[in-house]
Amino acid sequence: ASTNQPYRTGFHFQPIKNWMNDPNGPMIYKGIYHLFYQYNPYAAVWGNITWAHSTSTDLVNWTPHDIAIAASQPFDSHGCWSGSATILPGGRPAIFYTGIIDSKNTQVQNLAVPKNYSDPYLREWFKYPKNPLIVSTKPIDPTLFRDPTTAWLGPDKRWRMLIGSIIDNKGLAILYKSSKDFKHWTKENHPLHSDNNTRMWECPDFYPVSTIGQKGVDTSTFGPKVKHVLKASLGGPPRDCYTIGTYSIGKDKFIPDMEESLGVVPGLRYDYGKFYASKTFFDSDKNRRILWGWVSESSSADDDKKKGWSGLQAIPRSLWLDKSGKQLVQWPVVELESLRVNSVQLPSKFVEAGSVLEVSGLTAAQADIEISFEMTDFEKADVLDSNSTNPQLLCSQKGASVKSAFGPFGLLVLASKDLQEYTAVFFRIFKGQEHKYVVLMCSDQSRSSLNDKNDKTSYGAFLNVDPVHEKLSLRSLIDHSIVESFGGGGKACITARVYPTLAIEKDAHLYAFNNGTEKVKISSLSAWSMKKAQIN
Ligand code: FRU
Repeated sequence: ASTNQPYRTGFHFQPIKNWMNDPNGPMIYKGIYHLFYQYNPYAAVWGNITWAHSTSTDLVNWTPHDIAIAASQPFDSHGCWSGSATILPGGRPAIFYTGIIDSKNTQVQNLAVPKNYSDPYLREWFKYPKNPLIVSTKPIDPTLFRDPTTAWLGPDKRWRMLIGSIIDNKGLAILYKSSKDFKHWTKENHPLHSDNNTRMWECPDFYPVSTIGQKGVDTSTFGPKVKHVLKASLGGPPRDCYTIGTYSIGKDKFIPDMEESLGVVPGLRYDYGKFYASKTFFDSDKNRRILWGWVSESSSADDDKKKGWSGLQAIPRSLWLDKSGKQLVQWPVVELESLRVNSVQLPSKFVEAGSVLEVSGLTAAQADIEISFEMTDFEKADVLDSNSTNPQLLCSQKGASVKSAFGPFGLLVLASKDLQEYTAVFFRIFKGQEHKYVVLMCSDQSRSSLNDKNDKTSYGAFLNVDPVHEKLSLRSLIDHSIVESFGGGGKACITARVYPTLAIEKDAHLYAFNNGTEKVKISSLSAWSMKKAQIN
């Protein structure tokens, strides 16, 4: 691999080299956080998939361990694909993962348990010899049957678990129930949920969220004080979609609040940029639910081979139900703030139409910035065409250089001095229906790099914030080749991968900008250089 590595990150999780995809089996055990992940030990492309393993006490700094689960038995001879951990009674963790048993990619589900429960690092795993514990049954295609979830325990003392699949163009989450001992599983007649016209549901996730406040709850929590979230990872283009609803443990039925299909555009997504195959776990030490997600490269496979690695994990996010009850809110785990140094603050300030303001005094290639905006004179806002229902399309039609009254305004990150290169994360405010205003949040990568081999697709989301009565806030985590942006305190998240050729290391700059025709006020701005985390 090349020694010149401008795209390696300073505080994002990534192995020293080679390919990484999905986060697997995240959990906390004896005060230690565990992250496993899909890993190719031999190359920077997908293949030879194993479960690599790291642990941490703060979700920011990590210690790598040996590969935890690798192909070794007839029930996983061709690879160990994604899966989840469940904490069994007595605090004993167990892992279900998908084993690949032949070159056709036939998939079965296997159980693994720690060899030594007194090792807080859980370095060695024992595969149950009677694996596979679950095999597919007709009409399910055995090559589309994978990614077991964390299980939940009903009052009947039986466990439930989902497995992702597809039947007749309907993506679905198949429901299995087990005996008390977690070892004998039977398929329920009805899937927990399914939707027309989606691809296979990869990496399903199903968990409760409290209806009040931001605290997380254990996965086996039911009743009137929680709603349930069902997430599926859908292909073409890859995205993690979720729906919120009511789950009855008695009937084993999940009824979404909205009738919309999980695959609908824009729908509800954890992240409207690059973020896939994610998984949550309940942090019983800090009573929060934490979301991990894989962020793949936007570079060519050739460039990945040259740099010798591919794939990042997004910064783990705390997640909870929004006050509206209609969507989730996500925020980087608070521990990340321990890496903040050299704070830069700006007094409240107007940004005139067409102006750019440098935020200096920090390492702009490795930074954390929070900014909020206020405006008046909303009457001047452009009217949103009622046919414009696709925010990503709007963002790609109206990039950072297209003016409207309010917006684009926001940040230019990983920018070169002369603005030949930049990634623009910004808002636009439109007049919508019934005297309401619509906030569009965009991440525009079209000018992010002079290298045209990269995928520079623009991303966008509607942000459920009322700009007349609330401040409009944006936080961006900037880390060499990744920009994770959180609008409205985490109501919409957009993650992008970018590969600047000029705006690297000390030549990267950070700006606030307003390219609209009306002035906007920056009501607050705080930015920090980020220290390097210990990852490997
Ligand atoms: C999602 C996925 C999973 C599978 C794994 C294989 O990215 O395709 O469905 O288990 O990756 O690495």
